[in-house]
Amino acid sequence: MDAYDGLAPNYDAWAGYMEDDIPFYVSLAHEAAPGPVVELAVGTGRVTVAIAAETGRTVVGVDMSAGMLEVARAKARAAGVEALVDLRLGDMRALGTGSLALDAPASLIVCPFRSLLHLRGWEEKAELFRAVAATLAPGGRFAWNAFVFDPHAAASADGYASRHGDLWEYVEHAPADNRIDLTVYAGAPGVEPRTVQLWWATRSEFEGLARGAGLEIEAVYGWFDRSPYDDRSTEMVFIASKPA
Ligand SMILES: C[S@@+](CC[C@H](N)C(=O)[O-])C[C@H]1O[C@@H](n2cnc3c(N)ncnc32)[C@H](O)[C@@H]1O
Repeated sequence: MDAYDGLAPNYDAWAGYMEDDIPFYVSLAHEAAPGPVVELAVGTGRVTVAIAAETGRTVVGVDMSAGMLEVARAKARAAGVEALVDLRLGDMRALGTGSLALDAPASLIVCPFRSLLHLRGWEEKAELFRAVAATLAPGGRFAWNAFVFDPHAAASADGYASRHGDLWEYVEHAPADNRIDLTVYAGAPGVEPRTVQLWWATRSEFEGLARGAGLEIEAVYGWFDRSPYDDRSTEMVFIASKPA
């Protein structure tokens, strides 16, 4: 079973601390030219349902966890935007092919909440950037965010558990693999702990990945309010675009 399948019922409670990203991604959808809007690693539809509800645009949401997509489908129905949300099961690196083919080149592709870090190392991320560049329309944008890796924070969190509402999160740091493992457990009888793995990347690695795929870096922000990225930033928020 995919780790996120087991996390799906508890995901929104776990991710609830992250809210500032939603208006940012919605604003990009408002700004986007006509054409498909895509969310990669759509999860439970936290961002996609808001984009559909607030812009009236159709959003294609891709995820490899059937359990997460099931929650997203229910949320879209509850928000009255089921007809605007096109959820597809698959690996985001296959965007543009097979069941993840689009009717037209995309005007906006987003990948919120650090989901690119689930792709192992440079090679898997590079595959994704190539698929995004091939799928975007000229002038189309790709936006994503990732945490800024802090070796002191990683070392001090290593081996510690913290509580997020009803959920516990246990962190393990594997520096030789650029990896952080998060084990999330609900503490309820019969609920198995689930571990997800994140391969962190730096600003220059992300910029290299985008440029290597033929995209231009439009902006790197330090938060979703579009404040500048600097030494105090804890998040990298990128917008890249395909040359017109
Ligand atoms: C942190 S959640 C983010 C969900 C959602 N984007 C949000 O902002 O709440 C990460 C999601 O990435 C999905 N995922 C991980 N690797 C993937 C891949 N290679 N292709 C598609 N989805 C993937 C997981 O199933 C999970 O739903």
